[in-house]
Amino acid sequence: MRVYLVGAGVIARTHVEAAAKLDGPIEFRVADVSPAMLAAFGEAYPDIPRYPDAASMLAEPAREDDIVIVATPPFAHLEPTLQAFASGRHVLCEKPLAMSTDEAERMLDAAEAAGRLLGCCSVRFRGLPHTETVKRVLNSGVLGELTHLSWVNKWARSRSGIEYQPASRWFLDRSKSGGGVLMDWGPYDLATLTDLFAPDQISVTAATTSRPVTSADPSDTVFDVETAAAASLVLHRAAGDLLVDFQRASGTHGEEIFRAELEGTRGSVRWAPFDSEADVILRTDEGDGPVERVADPEPRAPFTIFDYPLKHFVDAVRGRPSRALLGREAVDAFRTVRALYEVAATGEPASIPFGDQTTRTVA
Ligand SMILES: NC(=O)c1ccc[n+]([C@@H]2O[C@H](COP(=O)([O-])OP(=O)(O)OC[C@H]3O[C@@H](n4cnc5c(N)ncnc54)[C@H](O)[C@@H]3O)[C@@H](O)[C@H]2O)c1
Repeated sequence: MRVYLVGAGVIARTHVEAAAKLDGPIEFRVADVSPAMLAAFGEAYPDIPRYPDAASMLAEPAREDDIVIVATPPFAHLEPTLQAFASGRHVLCEKPLAMSTDEAERMLDAAEAAGRLLGCCSVRFRGLPHTETVKRVLNSGVLGELTHLSWVNKWARSRSGIEYQPASRWFLDRSKSGGGVLMDWGPYDLATLTDLFAPDQISVTAATTSRPVTSADPSDTVFDVETAAAASLVLHRAAGDLLVDFQRASGTHGEEIFRAELEGTRGSVRWAPFDSEADVILRTDEGDGPVERVADPEPRAPFTIFDYPLKHFVDAVRGRPSRALLGREAVDAFRTVRALYEVAATGEPASIPFGDQTTRTVA
C-alpha cells in the first residue's frame, strides 16, 4: 500500500509512526511547499521520497488502494483533497475537515465523482478502551432510559499556537484555521458522540464562544479565534432524545475538568472523554442509595490516539469492519461543528439531520 502525505509538519510524522503498527508494508511519499519543513522531515525519514508540492507527488499513476493524507492547516485542506481525488486516490483528511460546510460538500462531491473514500482524522478517540467500556455499559441497558449527558473538556492554558505547538501560529488566525478550540477539538467530540449514540439528528439549541483574556495573549500575530465554547445539544435517537451539556476550552479562567457523566433512569456512568486510562465509573441504586463501582475495562490495544485515524481508514479501504468516519457522516459531523458557531453568532437554534442527502445545500 502507498500513502502520500501532503504536509510534512507535526501531525504527518505521527501517521508514519502509525503505519509501522499496521499489517502489511506501507510506502510513503511526502510533499510540502516549505523547503525547510520538507528538509526537516527528510532528516527524520531519509528514505521517504520528498516533493515540493502535491501535484508533482500525485503525478504517478494511481493504484486501487492508494491513500492521500492531507496533513496541512485547514486553509490548505480543500485544494490537495480535490487534487487527490482527481488523481484517483482515496483521501484521509486531517481535522477539521474543511474551512466551511461548502468546502466539505465540495470534497464529498469530488469523492463521489472519483468513486473513492473520503475520511476524516477526527476518529482519534474512536476505539479507545474507555470509550469501548462506556459503549458496553450503554448496550447492557443497566442505565435504563438515558436522560442527560454532561460533556466537559476544559484546559486552563493549552491553546494551540500559544502554549501548545507555539511554532504553528496559524492556529490563532481564523482565516487559516477556520476557528479556535471548536474547530480544533470539536471534530473529536462529534466523532466520539456519534460513535457512542448514533443520532439521526443533532440540534444545537444554544451556544456561546469566547476568548478569555490572559497575560500570555500574543500581540505580534493575528489572534482572533475562540478558546472557550459551551453549548446545549440534543442528540435525537430512535431510543429517545439525549440532552447534552457541552463545554470545551483550551484557555479559560475556570477549573480544568475532563469529565463526561451520562445519566439514566436506573444508573449513571462517568469517564474522562480524553486520552485517558482513568477508570470508567458506574453508579446504580442498590437499596441504600447509589453504589459506585469500576466498570470492567476493555483490553488495551497497541494503538494510541495518533494511530487510529490511519488504522481505521486502512481498514475501510481494505473492506474490513472499520470505525472510520467516512463520506456523508464525516461531512455531517463537520456541519455540526460549524452549526455551533452559527448558533453562537445568531442565537437561532439549528438542526443537522445525519445521513440526509436533502441537507446538502444548507450552508
Ligand atoms: N499538531 C497536532 O497535535 C495535531 C493533532 C491532530 C490534528 N492536527 C491537524 O493536522 C493538520 C496539520 O497540523 P500540524 O500540527 O501538522 O501543522 P504544522 O504547522 O506542524 O505543519 C503544517 C505543514 O503543512 C505545510 N503546508 C501548508 N500548505 C501546504 C500545501 N498547500 N501543500 C503542502 N504543504 C503545505 C506547511 O508548510 C507545514 O509544513 C491540521 O489540520 C491540524 O488541525 C494537528
